[in-house]
Amino acid sequence: MTAKLVLVTGASSGIGEATAKRYGAAGAHVLLIARNAERLYGVAHAIREAGGTATAFPLDLAGSEATKEVAARIEAEIGTPDVLINNAGAGRWLPLIETKAEDARAMIDVPYLAAFNLTRAFAPAMIARGTGSLVFVTSPAAYLAWPNASAYIAARRAVAGLAEALQSELKPTGVSVTLVVLGSVETPYWQHNPGSLQNVPEDPPFVRALTADEAAKAIVQGAARKKKFVIKPGIYRALFVLGALFPKTVASQLRRAAKRGRATKP
Ligand SMILES: NC(=O)c1ccc[n+]([C@@H]2O[C@H](COP(=O)([O-])OP(=O)(O)OC[C@H]3O[C@@H](n4cnc5c(N)ncnc54)[C@H](OP(=O)(O)O)[C@@H]3O)[C@@H](O)[C@H]2O)c1
Repeated sequence: MTAKLVLVTGASSGIGEATAKRYGAAGAHVLLIARNAERLYGVAHAIREAGGTATAFPLDLAGSEATKEVAARIEAEIGTPDVLINNAGAGRWLPLIETKAEDARAMIDVPYLAAFNLTRAFAPAMIARGTGSLVFVTSPAAYLAWPNASAYIAARRAVAGLAEALQSELKPTGVSVTLVVLGSVETPYWQHNPGSLQNVPEDPPFVRALTADEAAKAIVQGAARKKKFVIKPGIYRALFVLGALFPKTVASQLRRAAKRGRATKP
């Protein structure tokens, strides 16, 4: 791994925490962002205890001005990240009529606008020096529309749309853009976003949930190899193609998977 300075958002928990620890163990200086200062300092401490280098920046990424200020501080005091992992995200999987307008707005603020604002802040210096890696984490919900998670799906599609557009726009610049699409990952996401779990569809056959560290490994490898897409588990790639070719059939299968999901959850 050649990345020296890596910024991970959502590093206080789950996928972001595991990713930050992996980069720390590989010798990068890891910059951590999330709101929960205590947890964030705890993750930074764990990385340093393991022999790595980490600096925590507690921040609510929903605030665009505060985000700009922290990004400017990082640029001035530490430097431009080699890798930016846009992972922070929250949002409840709920049917439209149970979703409040402010919750839908919050899901656009983070992950989508948070990823936009940080990318916008660091991209100029990456482009100027002709190197850098931008990574965006999203869900298969960006490509498959299940029922009962409308605002979540729209927000994750926004992240995928941003990443795909940047793959094209930044191609001549030397800055790579990796979109990581992860199926179920064992993290505290469902505790953090109550009421969501019962609206998660049953996983496709033969698919098991990833551990947070497996997700982190996919992210780190995908960025290092400058992959455009990392899709885990791989069966989702086939489902996306099927969804594009046979939208009605796949939509009906997704409705059934959502129904089975509801039937198996408390
Ligand atoms: N778990 C899955 O099955 C799965 C699958 C595919 C994609 N994803 C996506 O992966 C991302 C990470 O999820 P996870 O499973 O690791 O969940 P998680 O354990 O709940 O972690 C979410 C992280 O995002 C941070 N965050 C949330 N809102 C924030 C805000 N306003 N400002 C700054 N940081 C914020 C949280 O930290 P604070 O609360 O401390 O701010 C936390 O560190 C999410 O976008 C999720 O949608 C998850």
